[in-house]
Amino acid sequence: MKFGVLTGGGDCPGLNAAIRAVVLRAGAGGDTVIGFLDGWRGVRDGVSRPISTGEVQGILGTGGTILGSSRTNPFANAEEAERVRANIAESGIDYLVAIGGDDTLNAAREWFRRGGRVVGVPKTMDNDVNGTDWTFGFDSASTVAVDAAERLRDTARSHHRAIVLEVMGRHAGWVALATGMAAGGDVTLVPEERYDEARLMARVRAAVDTRGFALVVASEGIDIGVARGSAGARDEFGHELLRERGVGAELARRIEKETGIESRSAQIGHIQRGGPPTLFDRLLATRLGAQAVDLARAGKNGHVAVLRGESVVGVPLDAALRSPKLVGPPWIDLMHSLET
Ligand code: F6P
Repeated sequence: MKFGVLTGGGDCPGLNAAIRAVVLRAGAGGDTVIGFLDGWRGVRDGVSRPISTGEVQGILGTGGTILGSSRTNPFANAEEAERVRANIAESGIDYLVAIGGDDTLNAAREWFRRGGRVVGVPKTMDNDVNGTDWTFGFDSASTVAVDAAERLRDTARSHHRAIVLEVMGRHAGWVALATGMAAGGDVTLVPEERYDEARLMARVRAAVDTRGFALVVASEGIDIGVARGSAGARDEFGHELLRERGVGAELARRIEKETGIESRSAQIGHIQRGGPPTLFDRLLATRLGAQAVDLARAGKNGHVAVLRGESVVGVPLDAALRSPKLVGPPWIDLMHSLET
């Protein structure tokens, strides 16, 4: 069998581990792999190259993706969709392995609906893909954010300040939740919960009164009632570029104005997406990459490899794409109960 593999959407640690697993698992069964470059753009534009088992030795622990990525929507119009069909036919692949988040997997489902053979591998630092317990990239990105939070806490303590850390995550608060809980933040703000300014101010005042400083973790996707810096810029799939709203900086301004406590903010942005994957992400990406090859060999067209408990299994793309996976009330209750 001949496989084609692509990585699409925002990159995250673990992509190279997943590519490596696809190539080695395929190779172990006598199959070959080509890589399409820069996500679906490479499919649309017919840009691909073979990936040998030798090439993937040593990439397991590296960040980014050796194949490149983009947020290209390959089915934006009929002419581009036809190029996708023609390029895949010409490449001679039997199965496409699409590694990505909801946009990339949506395109995979579209290709499946148009008669293509494709399996998916979910990844995203946002952890918002349904049908899987966790996505790889999330653990690594959150680990970076926890490190940032702890560094900010050190300097907040020295200067008796309130510091707001803004983290990514789009409209899911998983990264903020994990960071706030693992770093022991005083207040954590996630998009799944209505923003309560009075509560925020009260908690910051209480933290500063009790121990002299405050640490606030805010998800970029929270709605604080003002789209300060946003020019409404959107990516090819129509998603607003949330970092431009600058909610962290705006919160710091409001805290200082309202409480008189000197405040600062930090937006760590894409730092969260680089660097080596954690142990958890290496294992998850490896298992899911190998599982995708097994799904294809088993003829599970239109399926995606997911983590369920301790097992990796295949579920239909529809199950992964029915809605984004958001932070639910039990997590939010737990988070609040730990804020001292
Ligand atoms: O989806 C992953 C993500 O990192 C989001 O958390 C963030 O909002 C977005 O990508 C940023 O996208 P870009 O890299 O295109 O600026």
